[in-house]
Amino acid sequence: MKFTRARGLQGEVTIPGDKSISHRSVMFGSIANGATEISNYLQGADCLSTISCFQKMGIDIENKGDRVIVRGKGLRGLKRPDTVLDCGNSGTTTRLISGILSAQNFDVVLTGDDSIKKRPMNRIIEPLTLMGAHIRSAAGNGCAPLEITGGPLHGIHYTSKVASAQVKSAILLAGLYAEGETRVTEPYVSRNHSEIMLRHFGADVRTEGTTAVIKPASYLDGRQIQVPGDISSAAYFICAGLMVPGSKILIRNVGVNPTRAGILKAAKDMGGDITLLNERSGSGEPTADILVRSSSLRGTVIEGALIPTLIDELPMIAAMACVADGETVIRDAAELKVKESNRLEVMVRCLSSMGADVTETEDGMIIRGGRPLRGAVIDSRLDHRIAMTFAVAGLCADGETQILGAQCVNISYPEFYRDLAKLTETSPIL
Ligand code: S3P
Repeated sequence: MKFTRARGLQGEVTIPGDKSISHRSVMFGSIANGATEISNYLQGADCLSTISCFQKMGIDIENKGDRVIVRGKGLRGLKRPDTVLDCGNSGTTTRLISGILSAQNFDVVLTGDDSIKKRPMNRIIEPLTLMGAHIRSAAGNGCAPLEITGGPLHGIHYTSKVASAQVKSAILLAGLYAEGETRVTEPYVSRNHSEIMLRHFGADVRTEGTTAVIKPASYLDGRQIQVPGDISSAAYFICAGLMVPGSKILIRNVGVNPTRAGILKAAKDMGGDITLLNERSGSGEPTADILVRSSSLRGTVIEGALIPTLIDELPMIAAMACVADGETVIRDAAELKVKESNRLEVMVRCLSSMGADVTETEDGMIIRGGRPLRGAVIDSRLDHRIAMTFAVAGLCADGETQILGAQCVNISYPEFYRDLAKLTETSPIL
């Protein structure tokens, strides 16, 4: 897939469903009683992995594209799958499902693709083991495949070293089945979709500062879920609109939950012209349309509590910082090293190959903006967020940018190139 400089992006785009909320809707629906009807379920490969895992455990899930119906069998209704559960590329599937499986009365093996088999799982193995779970890395390297033998659990108070919603959610899900209360304290608040949705399904969950608390449940009730558009997918259009001169884009139906919406703050701090319109709420998740206009951007500092609220958007923000005036410093973002690829290393290498002035630090990067970008061949490493980031960077560069492995956007945004092409006159060259 190749991209060249765009003359200005104009028009409207409707963002597909949020990946995090889609996963949770099928997981919680599967262990609830009765039907859960989900609208705007993300049809990306990661969320399809979640559906397939629960189907293999005997849950009737009808995927009609725009609507998914899950006929839940209750907290104790899952059956032992006949095969290994394949989580594909999805860290969310692997980690959250581990919390549920730790409490079942059967054993199971979880695996995934080459990327998943390199991602750290000790962060869930440790707390789940403290709760009484039998869960081990088959290769002994702290990664998948994971062998889980479910059984009785007890509540704990766990203090996580990382602000990770996947870790927090795995523990909360195990806590649904545990004896006594379960508490998870994080250094900063990570996305709270599990807490919001579990409450919607009738669980007793509360938040005390950076601590989430859950009481064991005897049942969850099937619910209607409207999945808002994914702000992590909207990020590419937000930044493209700000970066490409002569742009004006209306981005419709974007989830703007404050634990996810850090990109709006960072982009505004950089001088971005962003307006929220039609603010509303669906299934407890705030949603809005976002109007962006091209802006003259300046550098900023992104750190601390802001990091978990824009963790998946950092590659795109780093690329945007290259066209801003002055220096942008990103720190406290070592988590980027353990995403679908080592996003710190990949971003620094690829942005440098486009002529940007970027230095990798221990836990982030320093970007000295304002140098013209030139097209380059970008190896996405099959990381969807890297592919989408450089498609947008290519719209702001001289010459041609070629993305290798471009089809990996299928993980979170199958129609990304089509939607981007609709807003551009000159790119992409298909
Ligand atoms: C997610 C949490 C984040 C994020 C991932 C989805 C979730 O991961 O990067 O894309 O749905 O809970 P961590 O919890 O590992 O930070």
